[in-house]
Amino acid sequence: MTNEERQSLIDFANEARERAYVPYSNYRVGAALCTKSGRIYTGVNVESAAYPTTMCAERVAVYKAVSEGEREFEVIAVVTDNGGSPCGGCRQVLAEFGLDTVVLIADGAGQLISETTVGKLLPLAFTPAHLPMKTE
Ligand code: THU
Repeated sequence: MTNEERQSLIDFANEARERAYVPYSNYRVGAALCTKSGRIYTGVNVESAAYPTTMCAERVAVYKAVSEGEREFEVIAVVTDNGGSPCGGCRQVLAEFGLDTVVLIADGAGQLISETTVGKLLPLAFTPAHLPMKTE
């Protein structure tokens, strides 16, 4: 991945962040997921008055991609004001589709804070390989 590609994905996530629905936390999160086929799916956090039904930006991006038939991911950019990193639930959902997916964590200025992988963010991950009944 070139620096330009990194920055472009971060910019997609940061622009998406403007559409975050965050009336309760006011903490805007934007994600941009690039598939191996080269498509980009963005996501934002969508909060709910029934707090636990809030959905994170990363999962929105993954679910959008999977619902469009994509399952192979190259890299996801996650942008917050202060460079916050993906929650445990999002790490697990990303792990479902591969531990090698690169994770770019950036702040609201679009500055790259950390470049890592899903596998590094979720050591000893429980994955589909642990379930012998997996059929697809
Ligand atoms: N949030 C995300 O969108 N992604 C994460 O990985 C961490 C948390 C959202 C959920 C909630 O809307 C707000 O950030 C504060 O927790």
